[in-house]
Amino acid sequence: MIVRNALMEDKRAVKNLLETYGLESDFNPKECLVAVEDKRIVGCVRLKDFGSFYELAGLAVEAESQGQGIGEALVKKALEGAGNKPVYCLTVEPGFFMKYGFKKIEGVDLPKKLGEKVGFCMATGAEWTGMVRNP
Ligand SMILES: CC(C)(COP(=O)(O)OP(=O)(O)OC[C@H]1O[C@@H](n2cnc3c(N)ncnc32)[C@H](O)[C@@H]1OP(=O)(O)O)[C@@H](O)C(=O)NCCC(=O)NCCS
Repeated sequence: MIVRNALMEDKRAVKNLLETYGLESDFNPKECLVAVEDKRIVGCVRLKDFGSFYELAGLAVEAESQGQGIGEALVKKALEGAGNKPVYCLTVEPGFFMKYGFKKIEGVDLPKKLGEKVGFCMATGAEWTGMVRNP
């Protein structure tokens, strides 16, 4: 398995993966990393630059490839790209992100620029947790 920057041609596979889990399926290859096994995309993650901070989003590993360290490899690689800025995320899996230095925060402490994302999350009806990883 390798983790590499996404290419435009990965768009369909990434969107399919994100839609499987009801995650926001915006695709920008410049923000996206993919995990590839035998030329097949088995996972993805997005690191979006908001200027003073990043948002880590769209983390997904296909069901049959979970539990093999792919999610960890994607998150670690994404965090390497975050330099000295805080990284926020809104997630339904806070336990997973706590392993990588993220701490739970109250919704009111999320940057206002993430307001649109908060709206998307609330509309899904799932239980989302705001988290931050400070450098
Ligand atoms: C959450 C997800 C990305 C994890 O990917 P994965 O490839 O199965 O995870 P890994 O195999 O890399 O696991 C790494 C570590 O995290 C742990 N872990 C995995 N899922 C976890 C969870 N939901 N809660 C807590 N810990 C978790 C593993 O046990 C492992 O720990 P270890 O190193 O001590 O053994 C994957 O389950 C997934 O795609 N879920 C559906 C989409 C989703 O919920 N995305 C989250 C963004 S909202």
